[in-house]
Amino acid sequence: MNMPKHIAMIMDGNGRWAKAQGKKRTQGHKEGAKIVRDVTQWCANKHIPYLTLYAFSTENWKRPKIEVDFLMNLLEKYLHNEQPMYMKNHIRFRAIGDISIFSTTLKNAILELEHITQNHTNLTQILALNYGSHDEIARTFIKLANTLSPTHLAALSTSEVIDMINANLDTATLPDVDMLIRTGGEKRISNFLLWQASYAELFFTSTLWPNLRTQELDSMLEDFMQRKRRFGGL
Ligand code: FPP
Repeated sequence: MNMPKHIAMIMDGNGRWAKAQGKKRTQGHKEGAKIVRDVTQWCANKHIPYLTLYAFSTENWKRPKIEVDFLMNLLEKYLHNEQPMYMKNHIRFRAIGDISIFSTTLKNAILELEHITQNHTNLTQILALNYGSHDEIARTFIKLANTLSPTHLAALSTSEVIDMINANLDTATLPDVDMLIRTGGEKRISNFLLWQASYAELFFTSTLWPNLRTQELDSMLEDFMQRKRRFGGL
């Protein structure tokens, strides 16, 4: 079966959803968190091994402090409150991105959920937190430059360098993205998994994230399975 191994999602449209309901933008994020749970369970039911969700980008710090603080709080609450979902469904949790600048309590919530779910063998759900592809690639570059001598680097072939980059990105042990879905109507990738989604099939929907339902995911999955992927070959 031509099923995707790794689905990535850009969860856009929370603010517009809230505005349309006459609510504050932050209420859109709260509603959005419920959809995170639904989408995660949908992936687990479909036996999709990896799901990566863009929860907070390196650019999201530019938002008003009140919204950033709300998102940080929401995330921390989510990581505590949803523990039973990860345990019951045997879902593994992982974070990618630079979490070093988060508050100690948020960092601990992330590390704790990663720890208690590390042996789970169903879906791995990955949250991209303070994540941006440029930042990830730059951190990988610094790591490699600090560990390899200039002579060693100069002797490497480009394919060896590609393997080394793959092995040192935040996504090191994950397969490349097969299917990239963006809700909210914009048709762009916004600095998300640029390296890993090189051959991903792209899906853009105008549905706002809080309005996303599993029926729409079912049709996208059907569409994905019809697509002929050639990875640059014939
Ligand atoms: C983009 O919508 C969404 C975000 C920047 C945050 C995504 C967060 C969630 C879906 C909820 C929290 C997540 C977890 C894992 C608990 P937007 O605010 O840019 O929407 P707009 O384009 O309509 O303004």
